[in-house]
Amino acid sequence: MSNAFVARSLDETRFWSRIMKEHSLFLRLGFRCEDTRLINEANQFYAIFESIENKANSFSIGTDPQTITRFNEEVHNAVSHIWVFKRKVLDLILRCQLPGANNFPLLVDHVSREANYFRNRLAELNTGRLEPLPDAIIDENIFFLRIMADHAKFISHLLDPSERKLVDQANHFSNEFDQLIFQARDLDSMRPQSQTAPLLDQFLDQNRVSVKSLRDFKKTARELIEACRVKSIIHPLLADHVFREAERFLHIIDMFENSLSGKPLPPPQSMVISDHS
Ligand SMILES: [Fe+2]
Ligand SMILES: [Fe+2]
Repeated sequence: MSNAFVARSLDETRFWSRIMKEHSLFLRLGFRCEDTRLINEANQFYAIFESIENKANSFSIGTDPQTITRFNEEVHNAVSHIWVFKRKVLDLILRCQLPGANNFPLLVDHVSREANYFRNRLAELNTGRLEPLPDAIIDENIFFLRIMADHAKFISHLLDPSERKLVDQANHFSNEFDQLIFQARDLDSMRPQSQTAPLLDQFLDQNRVSVKSLRDFKKTARELIEACRVKSIIHPLLADHVFREAERFLHIIDMFENSLSGKPLPPPQSMVISDHS
């Protein structure tokens, strides 16, 4: 069990600390030159999450679980701070205090939701209170489907308007994922009666098909952007970033699928202990 704890903790922290580091960069790129305080704050978060990422990579499965517990607390603290920073930036944008800056409010809200997700994962790991599998399946899918829907919207809005075909494709994904979110919410409101193995299995199958095709679209977009074959204001690292988040979602869907098919639905007290890695 402590091996699983160390493995899960390192997997989450390695993935999400890099994501937090990159959010700091994206936010900084969207500030105006005169917003030097915000730029400095963003740079500080970049350095903090870079050092967390390096530390996470220096630990291994053999690291003492107590060391990892303390590390998770330290990371939790840093994530809480970047969450506050992101919400402060959102507040400034929505109050029109940063006219001409280039971060969409939805993007800032989105990156704060990802910080909140990471913070909750760390708290769950340290307290050992993981959600029962059927609840985790619905909650994680609702979270990630919205993340995917947002990505499609960002891609659509950051492509040059003259890239009509790609913009159309991105808008198509945006609609598709909005529909999937509604479906997921319906399943959510029918809880716990909706939490049968066949329904949850079908839910995962359907989501997987759409996430795979969005993941492939992001991969193509990333290649086009890297080769400078498409007109856009999308940073190549942002293209790669959203691609990795889609891969993460697919990985989580597969993990749930394995837990569902491997054994009958666990009783409510059971924990999801499958390793993400
Ligand atoms: Fe992100
Ligand atoms: Fe994202």
